[in-house]
Amino acid sequence: MTLPETQPVFDESFRECFEKLLQWRRDVRHFKTDPVPEDVLNRVLSLADMAPSVGNSQPWRIVQVEGLERRSAVMEAHTAANRAARESYGETEQGKAYRSLKLAGLREAPVHLAVFVDPNPEQGHGLGRATMPETLAYSAVGMIQTLWLAARIEGIGLGWVSILDPIRTSCILDVNPSWSFIAYLCLGYPEKNYDAPELERKRWQARTPLSDRILKR
Ligand SMILES: Cc1cc2nc3c(=O)[nH]c(=O)nc-3n(C[C@H](O)[C@H](O)[C@H](O)COP(=O)(O)O)c2cc1C
Repeated sequence: MTLPETQPVFDESFRECFEKLLQWRRDVRHFKTDPVPEDVLNRVLSLADMAPSVGNSQPWRIVQVEGLERRSAVMEAHTAANRAARESYGETEQGKAYRSLKLAGLREAPVHLAVFVDPNPEQGHGLGRATMPETLAYSAVGMIQTLWLAARIEGIGLGWVSILDPIRTSCILDVNPSWSFIAYLCLGYPEKNYDAPELERKRWQARTPLSDRILKR
């Protein structure tokens, strides 16, 4: 079968690179403080914006958090949420392990992005979300995954910070109160690159075989 002229061929070397990209993507919490050039960040964001979305609604709203006061307030919110999580594990072995983990790189990361979802975007005219309104949030997560990969191609690491109270974070960032908080993302050049998750390397949780998660009916 001949492919239409406009369809690029994803040849063997591309496939190998793509597999490497997935292997080396990583959630990053150890950043250099070197700035990310604005044009590089904009390119990565434009690529992420090509992600699929329900009804083509592109419901993600991305806040570039630049103000130092707001960044400090987010860090305080993370410290409070992290303390609560630590206490919930108590003095168990898991609690000890939890305390040894670094779960955010908020202080060093040069770029902070908060991702929200608009629960009622005009774009898309409601298509596809009547039965599953949560597909708007799923769309935002798809955008984040695309951003994660696009950033890695530029040598930029991304760390997803979810140890934050969503309402407190929305107030700090003074966004439309109807928006739902999806993620707080740290981006920057990693101190080191790894081909295995930090949680696997720190023996918190290793990955398991795909066969454990596939069913046939
Ligand atoms: C929805 C989501 C939330 C996450 N929240 C955090 C977080 O708050 N802190 C953290 O250190 N890592 C967080 N992570 C990163 C995961 O720990 C990481 O993706 C996982 O351990 C696998 O590692 P890898 O991304 O390097 O493959 C989050 C990842 C996802 C997808």
